[in-house]
Amino acid sequence: MPCAPVEFLLQPATRQAQAVLHDVLLPGDIAIDATCGNGHDTAFLAEHVGADGHVIGFDIQREALTSTRKRLPDALQDRVTLVEASHAEMLEHLPPDVAGRVRAVMFNLGYLPGGDKTLITRPDTSVAAIHTALELLGPNGVVTIVVYTGHEGGREEAEHIETFLKTLPKSSWDVRVTYTLNREVDAPYLIVISRMSR
Ligand SMILES: C[S@@+](CC[C@H](N)C(=O)[O-])C[C@H]1O[C@@H](n2cnc3c(N)ncnc32)[C@H](O)[C@@H]1O
Repeated sequence: MPCAPVEFLLQPATRQAQAVLHDVLLPGDIAIDATCGNGHDTAFLAEHVGADGHVIGFDIQREALTSTRKRLPDALQDRVTLVEASHAEMLEHLPPDVAGRVRAVMFNLGYLPGGDKTLITRPDTSVAAIHTALELLGPNGVVTIVVYTGHEGGREEAEHIETFLKTLPKSSWDVRVTYTLNREVDAPYLIVISRMSR
């Protein structure tokens, strides 16, 4: 998974998000998948937090959580807790001692591939969830967000999120965006938020 900078830039946004977190996650870490979908990111996180780590995954669709559970190899099952709830309510579903100890939170916005395309992430709940995710992060924690603007409401969601992220103080947060200038305007892109200090 580690790759040279140019190789990193040439990858799709979903792979870039994993490449970033490959270098961030340590055995024993706590990580959150805020949008489980078909479980690719949950499985990735579970692999990287090791046997002593834990992953908590959220999705509003039971179908997505079933798909995620099925994707996990037996060896990773015990290190993953799946919650059928909106990521905007994640705080209510996490043990209190997790606050300030989370190393990574992944968001992969939009709809469930192969599922109901009307069940999408929404501007207000996404911003609320990102806000909570930042509060949960521990030292050197990172939030990745893969943003899709090709579906109805996607661009509005992206604008809401970027407007919020621009308000984060630069002394505490680094916010980077990786997108491609000469592709279709709706190509998915990656936002990476890193905690600079605590
Ligand atoms: C693009 S998919 C995620 C793909 C996934 N990360 C993977 O690796 O397969 C987006 C998912 O977000 C979920 N979703 C939509 N609104 C949500 C919300 N408010 N809270 C949590 N999940 C939500 C959808 O049900 C869908 O499964």
